[in-house]
Amino acid sequence: MSSDISSQSNTQALQQLRLVQTELHKKLVGHEALIERLLIALLTGGHILIEGAPGLAKTRTINQFSQLIDARFVRIQATPDLLPADLTGTDMYHQQSGEFRFIEGPLFNNIVLMDEINRAPPKVQSALLEAMGEKQISSSGKTRALESPFLVAATQNPIEHEGTYPLPEAQLDRFMFFVNVEMPDATAELKILDQVLSERNSNSKTDNQASHQAAVSNTSTIEQASAFVSAVHVSDAIKDYIVRLITATRGHGVAGRVAEHIAHPASPRGSIFLSVAAQAKAWLDDRDYITPDDIKQLAPDVLSGRIVLHYQARAEGITQRDLIMRILDSTPAL
Ligand SMILES: Nc1ncnc2c1ncn2[C@@H]1O[C@H](COP(=O)(O)OP(=O)(O)O)[C@@H](O)[C@H]1O
Ligand SMILES: [Mg+2]
Repeated sequence: MSSDISSQSNTQALQQLRLVQTELHKKLVGHEALIERLLIALLTGGHILIEGAPGLAKTRTINQFSQLIDARFVRIQATPDLLPADLTGTDMYHQQSGEFRFIEGPLFNNIVLMDEINRAPPKVQSALLEAMGEKQISSSGKTRALESPFLVAATQNPIEHEGTYPLPEAQLDRFMFFVNVEMPDATAELKILDQVLSERNSNSKTDNQASHQAAVSNTSTIEQASAFVSAVHVSDAIKDYIVRLITATRGHGVAGRVAEHIAHPASPRGSIFLSVAAQAKAWLDDRDYITPDDIKQLAPDVLSGRIVLHYQARAEGITQRDLIMRILDSTPAL
């Protein structure tokens, strides 16, 4: 029966993607949230903005993740002289045929790591915005579809603001997740050190990049899993909870007092990304329904980048995450 076949492939896809997570956990100390968010984003067509200092294994995480799912991966270092065509590709003159041919740029990959996105000039950021939102690019008057799955993981260094172009709100709103990567504590630091030393020993490699990782899944499984994720039930009660959380950023309901610190509240993309991400989280937990706990766990990473604080709130040291926690605390789930 076809429903048996589909439940069988559902189980297989789930097992594979759990294996991806297990393998990644072996290669990384901590970063559980980042790993889960990456997988959720890939399953739902979302993108992720990672904030953290250099050297915290952001590249390693995404590189290993791409290898495990056999995805085409590229890393772009943003610089102020980057041009949109450096991302999208461009028409090049082909000598033999005497014609111009389109040479695909790095956006024609499954997973694009854009390092230090705020060093890229606005035109490049906007080309990336089109790619993220529409999964297509325009070049010399033509639109071209990008790969599927397609995920942009952009990084931002929180301590460096000199000579950067802060992402405009419209660009920030395109991201599903805003993940903070923190410095390891002493125990984690020691584990990292042990892992790197033993890897260097076994690979007798001099570079500190992680070694080749055999794939345990592939992009067609991701595509299949995405369809299962979309079928996860979003109950009226959950929708109502999400709406109350989002509208609290606009001053509605019991948690609405928090909004006095907010200059720009969350847009409907906030509710959409929160519900879609929760579908994937539920699916990865082998459920076909969302719980309020899924929402609570995801809300800080989905919402923190979509609200802009008043100057005064920032001066008082209030963060977006503080406000979201306050909203979560004072909004009853059901
Ligand atoms: N949490 C961690 N788990 C495992 N290795 C880590 C971790 N943090 C740092 N490292 C090590 O530091 C190196 C630098 O990481 P990298 O991915 O280049 O950092 P980033 O891209 O954040 O600047 C990695 O290759 C890895 O060996
Ligand atoms: Mg890096």
